[in-house]
Amino acid sequence: MISLNINIDHFATLRNARGGSEPDPITGALMAEIAGASGIVAHLREDRRHIKDKDVYLLRQLVQTKLDLEMAANEEIINIALEIKPELVTIVPEKREELTTEGGLNLLQDINKHKNLVERMHQKDIIVSYFIEPKQEQIDAVIECGAEMIELHTGTYANMKKESDLLKEFYKIKAACEYAHSKGLIIAAGHGLNYENTKLIATIKEIHELSIGHSVIARAMYVGITQAVKEMKELIEYYGK
Ligand code: PXP
Repeated sequence: MISLNINIDHFATLRNARGGSEPDPITGALMAEIAGASGIVAHLREDRRHIKDKDVYLLRQLVQTKLDLEMAANEEIINIALEIKPELVTIVPEKREELTTEGGLNLLQDINKHKNLVERMHQKDIIVSYFIEPKQEQIDAVIECGAEMIELHTGTYANMKKESDLLKEFYKIKAACEYAHSKGLIIAAGHGLNYENTKLIATIKEIHELSIGHSVIARAMYVGITQAVKEMKELIEYYGK
């Protein structure tokens, strides 16, 4: 069964809009866990635009399921990860001017740097996942770096308006999942997934977990975080049967 990890960055986006303490992303994370989330994801960006350092330290103390620290391969953030020891780090590309992560990391560019990153994380028993496009050469590069996990970028799929285009992207993701699974990698997927487009993705048997943020936090505005997480979890379970 595919498990659901909730990205809580947008609790922090809203909190930071007024510079105060509400809504508190830590409370949001703990409520998401109680509602059935299998893990909590937080992206500590170089510019700290949503999640702040103190959030990460508190999450480490309080998250009971699994903490996935999403991060760029930046020395300052690497050192924070090595200190707090999340169960998992997901390595993403990061541009200051982007609204959100815009695509997978191109691992072919800097393979030695990533081999070193993976080795340092493994010394602290931290699992390393790479956020990549659903392409065979990127999957091979993850294996070469020694990481045990990938997160496939579903953003292109999620942005497709025409059904034929959506299906084309879906089959790219499915093929990448089959290939990565045959190579023994643990597979996650995420970005832009909502209560509609997740249905098809949930049918891919090789996927171990989904990382979903914006749609669930947006729905929480109307129905509360408990209900929003439960609905997404039920949907994944139903279509993943
Ligand atoms: N996975 C990765 C690597 C991401 O960067 C994000 C966005 O922070 C997500 C998943 C979640 O995307 P969304 O907020 O669109 O559900």
